[in-house]
Amino acid sequence: MHRVFSFRSVYSVTEEVLIKVEATALDRTDTLQRKGSYSLPKCASPYPGLECSGTVVSVDERVSRWKVGDQVCALLSGGGYAEKVAVPAGQVLPVPPGVSLKDAAAFPEVVCTVWSTVFMTSRLSAGETFLVHGGSSGIGTFAIQIAKCQGVRVFATAGSEEKLAFCQKLGADVCINYKTKYFVARVKEETGGKGVNVILDCVGAPYFQQNLDSLDFDGRIFIIGIQGEAKTELNIRSLFTRPLTVQGVGTIKAIVITTPGGPEVQKLQEVEDLQIKDDGVLIKVEATALNRTDTLQRKDSYPLQKGASPYLGLECSGTVVSVGERVSRWKVGDQVCALLSGGG
Ligand SMILES: NC(=O)c1ccc[n+]([C@@H]2O[C@H](COP(=O)([O-])OP(=O)(O)OC[C@H]3O[C@@H](n4cnc5c(N)ncnc54)[C@H](OP(=O)(O)O)[C@@H]3O)[C@@H](O)[C@H]2O)c1
Repeated sequence: MHRVFSFRSVYSVTEEVLIKVEATALDRTDTLQRKGSYSLPKCASPYPGLECSGTVVSVDERVSRWKVGDQVCALLSGGGYAEKVAVPAGQVLPVPPGVSLKDAAAFPEVVCTVWSTVFMTSRLSAGETFLVHGGSSGIGTFAIQIAKCQGVRVFATAGSEEKLAFCQKLGADVCINYKTKYFVARVKEETGGKGVNVILDCVGAPYFQQNLDSLDFDGRIFIIGIQGEAKTELNIRSLFTRPLTVQGVGTIKAIVITTPGGPEVQKLQEVEDLQIKDDGVLIKVEATALNRTDTLQRKDSYPLQKGASPYLGLECSGTVVSVGERVSRWKVGDQVCALLSGGG
């Protein structure tokens, strides 16, 4: 680690604490900064180091949350590669119980990024499937381990067999060399043609369409980096075949694209050969509508959703004549209208 030759007087800008650095992390931004291809935010330290852990050695008198001697970690705008760093008190976090001071250095940037995107926002849950690009990256190595711990089946991409072996050691179930294999095909093969539930992407435009094609019903993509191009062409049709969510994070706000048709709607549609399921209702149709999709289907130019009725009619009104055992909302005789995946 380099010594810091001088640093500005602490507390001059805002309410700060001074941390004696125990450990710092190596993030992609640090490597970009070393290559001179990272534009530093205004007022940021010119030294690398976006996160660190250590012990508080001095506190601005306006700060009440922290005291000298506290073991902490902090998100920095730079300057973690030093013996001491001054940081606004609001960017300091306690070291979580059971985590060593050294490991805590990767907490503010890597761990918080993965947790807030994949789990808090994209709602990855036990029993689901998850694809992380760049599995051997700082972000990827943590994402694999935490997803495994949460009972998720993990897919990882990386650019060499050595890196893939490392991903496997960390717990990845399916490892894909993106330089030799088309990852969409492998994902489909491993999921019985369905796709994964959540994708964490750091590549951007070159993967956008492929990521959409790799998602299951109600799939979610979170984009945290653009290592390829930023602009791409999109086949918008792929957003209409099932509900999908695409989110991205920046310093200002998230972008959200969501397509309609949640699982609740789907359940209502699953009435096959007039045999209703536990959670379905049977409607005696009074009227139906003519939508553009019906005319396309008649011309054979509409790809039917898997499991959808082969008959026309995306919506209808009528009277409920039979109700599944698990349905409490509707009863025989109710006059209703319904959104269908066909068959109206
Ligand atoms: N938005 C945020 O809050 C936030 C926070 C932290 C990080 N990030 C972003 O997250 C990404 C990872 O950060 P890091 O610090 O962990 O980076 P890192 O350790 O430098 O790793 C970069 C990774 O990108 C992978 N990669 C590059 N092109 C790829 C492709 N075409 N397909 C699959 N993988 C590809 C590389 O894989 P190979 O080496 O195998 O080629 C490498 O593992 C970066 O894009 C970073 O900007 C975002």
